[in-house]
Amino acid sequence: MPLLNNSPELTISHPIFLIGFMGCGKTTMGKKIAKKGVIPFVDLDQKIVEQAGMSVSDYFALNGEDAFRELETHMLRAIPTTEATIISTGGGTPCFNDNIEWMNENGTTVYLKLPPRALLKRLSGKEGTSRPLLKGKSEDEILDFITIKLNEREKFYEQAKLIVDVHNMNPSLVLDLIFTKLQSK
Ligand code: S3P
Repeated sequence: MPLLNNSPELTISHPIFLIGFMGCGKTTMGKKIAKKGVIPFVDLDQKIVEQAGMSVSDYFALNGEDAFRELETHMLRAIPTTEATIISTGGGTPCFNDNIEWMNENGTTVYLKLPPRALLKRLSGKEGTSRPLLKGKSEDEILDFITIKLNEREKFYEQAKLIVDVHNMNPSLVLDLIFTKLQSK
């Protein structure tokens, strides 16, 4: 059971799932938590890419979203549940196939919460181009898409065991906050 640095009381032997909308910082934050905690990091989208042998965009284009959700669920549930791992999930992962229930039963879920305009800022330009759901959209269309989708998805995201409002917070503060919250669980 790994002991997290500077957090003597915090020991874990289960996965920590970072959830939230595209662009909320799950991968960046996941890597930081994993480094600080000296535990492995897994990017679920990356696992899907390895399994599929192609990018998420190509998989969507070739097989459609339903097939992607099936593969995503399969890869999620293949994660060992008795090991400490930080997992950055895809923005849609908790919203399909009862995945939020499964994650809550098998680990600690952490929702990185940001409002639509802040997400837009992060998804504008290069960051957005790799996301199939944003392909071909103007900035106004992306903002509409984020607002509508976030509204649909928040009922899943808000089932997370920890909700961290990361708006206007620098990454090291977010990291400390998540550690404190995990410690007090
Ligand atoms: C998706 C988010 C993406 C990726 C796929 C679908 C979504 O992951 O899984 O493009 O439905 O929100 P990120 O949240 O890491 O961008």
